[in-house]
Amino acid sequence: MRVLGLKSSTDSAWAQTALEDEVALLSDHAHLERKAAGHGMSLIGWFPEQAPAILEVVREEMEHFERVYALLAERGEVLGPDGGNPYVRRLMRAGDKTLLSRVLRMGLVEARSYERFSLLADAASGQLAQLYADLRESEAGHHAFFLKLAYGRWPRPEVQACWQALATLEAEIVAGIEWGPRIH
Ligand SMILES: [Fe+2]
Ligand SMILES: [Fe+2]
Repeated sequence: MRVLGLKSSTDSAWAQTALEDEVALLSDHAHLERKAAGHGMSLIGWFPEQAPAILEVVREEMEHFERVYALLAERGEVLGPDGGNPYVRRLMRAGDKTLLSRVLRMGLVEARSYERFSLLADAASGQLAQLYADLRESEAGHHAFFLKLAYGRWPRPEVQACWQALATLEAEIVAGIEWGPRIH
């Protein structure tokens, strides 16, 4: 099922592949949350009047990071090196370089994360199932937040056209990435 304006849906078999190496998955995930917090902080420069609301999102991403980091620590692991997330890297280079595009690309990552966390919540068990079930709602809230941010500054048709174009690119990018122990 397609969710949150995405133009493709992930096969549920993906989650089994992602869960084959839990430590690698958690490490990729932790870096993703860390970067989400960083990207959120940088947005404040363009939306100074929205700083309190953006900080709320940033705080949640930091909490997500802390939670994932703690699960790694419980397993006696530390955060591995940042393997670079090919999905995010390609998506951030996609589309035009406008601020609107940047905001919507952040919204797309949130939407895809929501979808992936939902699949992981169903496929995992114990602590990991709980983690993904808890986090998915938060990421759906972030998706809604970035859209609201866009609609607050740009005309509706412009936001919608940009989202449609980016969501098409996003679906192509996600289809071109081999499954592995990563969120995307
Ligand atoms: Fe998050
Ligand atoms: Fe998020």
